[in-house]
Amino acid sequence: MPKQKTTTEPDWVKTEKTYFLQTGKRLPVILDRGEGTTVWDLDGKSYLDFVGGIAVLSLGHCHPVVVEAIERQSKKLMTTSNYYYTIPQLKLAELLCRSSGMDKAFFCNSGAEAVEGLIKLARKWGKEKREGAYQIIVMEGAFHGRTLATVAASSNERYRAPFTPLPEGFIRVPFNDIDAVKDATGPNTVAVLVEPLQGEGGVNVPDDGYLPRLRQWCDESGILLLLDEVQTGVGRTGKLFAFQHYGIEPDAIAVAKALGSGFPIGAFLAKDSAALLGAGEHGTTFGGNALACEVGYSVLKYITDNDIPAQVTERGAHLERRLHSLADRQPMITEVRGKGLIWAIELDRPASEQVVNLALEAGLLANAVKPNAIRLVPPFTVSEAELDKAVDILEEALAKVSEESAK
Ligand SMILES: Cc1ncc(COP(=O)(O)O)c(C=O)c1O
Repeated sequence: MPKQKTTTEPDWVKTEKTYFLQTGKRLPVILDRGEGTTVWDLDGKSYLDFVGGIAVLSLGHCHPVVVEAIERQSKKLMTTSNYYYTIPQLKLAELLCRSSGMDKAFFCNSGAEAVEGLIKLARKWGKEKREGAYQIIVMEGAFHGRTLATVAASSNERYRAPFTPLPEGFIRVPFNDIDAVKDATGPNTVAVLVEPLQGEGGVNVPDDGYLPRLRQWCDESGILLLLDEVQTGVGRTGKLFAFQHYGIEPDAIAVAKALGSGFPIGAFLAKDSAALLGAGEHGTTFGGNALACEVGYSVLKYITDNDIPAQVTERGAHLERRLHSLADRQPMITEVRGKGLIWAIELDRPASEQVVNLALEAGLLANAVKPNAIRLVPPFTVSEAELDKAVDILEEALAKVSEESAK
């Protein structure tokens, strides 16, 4: 646990235990400030941040583009409700639609709300276009958020079991298996909802033909293809949107995380043919507020103007090479997988928490995405030197774990 410096300093760990709902397990560090890829704790110790708010910090901590947008807009106009027009919202809607090929945008505050919007969109579309069809085919290993409907669409039993009965209408099939989707499609099916690359499921990359085949199947059977790009969108995989690797277009997508580079914002985007939500059928108080949209616009404009996805591809290739050469030296690693700047190493044993704790001590934040898999999602602005240092720290942590288990 973090050390207390003086008797007068508040005991923050105790405060957390006393006042904060105990829904998560925290690592023993109190983070105090950040810049670029680096964060510092209360004692001034620095860490390379390869968690990045869980794939949120596209431009790293406190990037000037984000700080200046917050400063500029917060002095001008923060929120108005959606009864009125504000320019930041409209600029961001236009830029998102133009850069994704979608036609309409709706803004919210988080990834779960964005996916919830996709689910409502599909249900409405089913009522109007497919005789009331409402079932959505979802994937094993999927994660779509923590609202009741997105939990129902997600596959982790631990997140679902305490909250039954969950909203119905989700049919689960194995990921990366087009035949399973075909077998599950029936007259009540309205859509397929899928992450182009599963993040929380452990960084699972499907075959290159999977999304194109899904698109073809959805077209043939007259159902919607909905992509959850909350973790992959806005450049993470080396294209602005992950579906752009495959030469297809979905009917609608959800985005969030990287769009605000640390500022909360989410959105769902849809083709006109799918965007059937009408007046009063969806809404939000904070979603699309001028402050969040000015930040989202500034981040997205910076990412597109500077072709940051190309930089992600280049740095990602470097990280991939380094991880593969680490796997050649360290037999505990059984697989290296990812795309762009989202990677996981799979271990031959459930040691990821141990490795993550050792890495923390050595100055690296990494994420135990599964008991036997470690996820790395550094900012798009990460340098090669930072990637090298992170891999060196991981190598030492893995070596310690393998030495200890050999004793
Ligand atoms: C693919 C995907 N969808 C949805 C979500 C939920 O986003 P949020 O936590 O912002 O609600 C996440 C979060 O990790 C995600 O990875």
